[in-house]
Amino acid sequence: MTIARKIETILSRSSWIRKMFEEGGRLKAQHGAQNVFDFSLGNPNIAAPECFDKALAETACSCSGEHGYMPNTGYPHVRQAVARHVSEEQAVTVGEADIVMTCGASGALNVALKTLLDPGDEVLTPIPCFVEYGFYADNHGGVLKTVPTHPDFSLDLEGFEQAITDRTKVVLINSPNNPTGQIYSRESLDALGDLLRRKSAAFQRTIYLVSDEPYRKIVFDNHFVPSIFGCYANSIIGTSYSKDISIPGERIGFAAVNPAADFHDDVLNGMALANRILGFVNAPALMQKIIACLQGTSVDISLYQRKRDLLCEGLADAGYTFVTPPGTFYLFPQTPIADDVEFVRALQEELILVVPGSGFNGPGHFRIAFCVDDDTIVKALPGFKRVMARFR
Ligand SMILES: Cc1ncc(COP(=O)(O)O)c(C=O)c1O
Repeated sequence: MTIARKIETILSRSSWIRKMFEEGGRLKAQHGAQNVFDFSLGNPNIAAPECFDKALAETACSCSGEHGYMPNTGYPHVRQAVARHVSEEQAVTVGEADIVMTCGASGALNVALKTLLDPGDEVLTPIPCFVEYGFYADNHGGVLKTVPTHPDFSLDLEGFEQAITDRTKVVLINSPNNPTGQIYSRESLDALGDLLRRKSAAFQRTIYLVSDEPYRKIVFDNHFVPSIFGCYANSIIGTSYSKDISIPGERIGFAAVNPAADFHDDVLNGMALANRILGFVNAPALMQKIIACLQGTSVDISLYQRKRDLLCEGLADAGYTFVTPPGTFYLFPQTPIADDVEFVRALQEELILVVPGSGFNGPGHFRIAFCVDDDTIVKALPGFKRVMARFR
């Protein structure tokens, strides 16, 4: 092969989600798509809200001739609208100058990491975690280091205390979390903020807290996601409209830098440059204009809560052990045997597709993405029950 060895290696170790996706294609061709219960992808199944379709139609009709380049950070009026909303959500005044519009949350994280990391710098993240973090750190010369969480997937501050070194440049958290659905409490984030202030002073270098928040609005039972800006000054939010408005294919999100962050202007100038030189140039123009009118909007979250309850009741009844997720559309149950891959293969025999926890640095578990029709959940439950009965 003439492609880069690093890419060749990654390709040969194709991710579990990709493997399940391919396996799903094979099973659907063999058994018919309606007979396969596919819980492998975090692709929202609830349609984007009507107000999105309306804004799309109106914006498409009214923007003739407005398709040119713009500032790499995005349209000023869009950044103003986003800043107003972030100010409310974070209870900290954020301005247009603190916002960079990006190609989804992934774009925001890559732009932030490109700006912050020198070769060999460490990015610390609690696990289980989103599979792509290792690649994102590596994209910019960084090294991902992991810190285990408590059994209920809450932050282990003692673990962070031990893991932070003079090479730590970024702590990357994701709450509500993929794959566990856990939300980090205000107390634990305050404690993390205290720790990062202490360690930054000890090592005489700013440690930035990057908060990946695409599921912020997908929370249940009146749970609330605390303000990250209120807990730590050197913080950056990366997020998107992919999950809460159900538009992941449209690639629209943003990064927000805490106005009180060290080297604030350098960070923002760096992020604007990174948006350009990573090849994004700017977030999609049409989508920027649309989301400017949709701040605070989301799909009907109670629909996901109903799916969560349906699934949790059914799995508890079948004997599964799990932490009921306060947010996201993921459930991360324990496997009754240590080998999560073997368990996932057994579920496949029932035509149920889920992802082994090992793929998220969470062995002994598996991830169910319940952004599927209620009917899929109901029809899959007997299969879940039979497999649990086999292994218990
Ligand atoms: C935790 C987490 N971060 C980031 C992303 C990427 O989001 P986007 O599609 O907005 O780039 C995802 C997508 O699944 C995710 O689960």
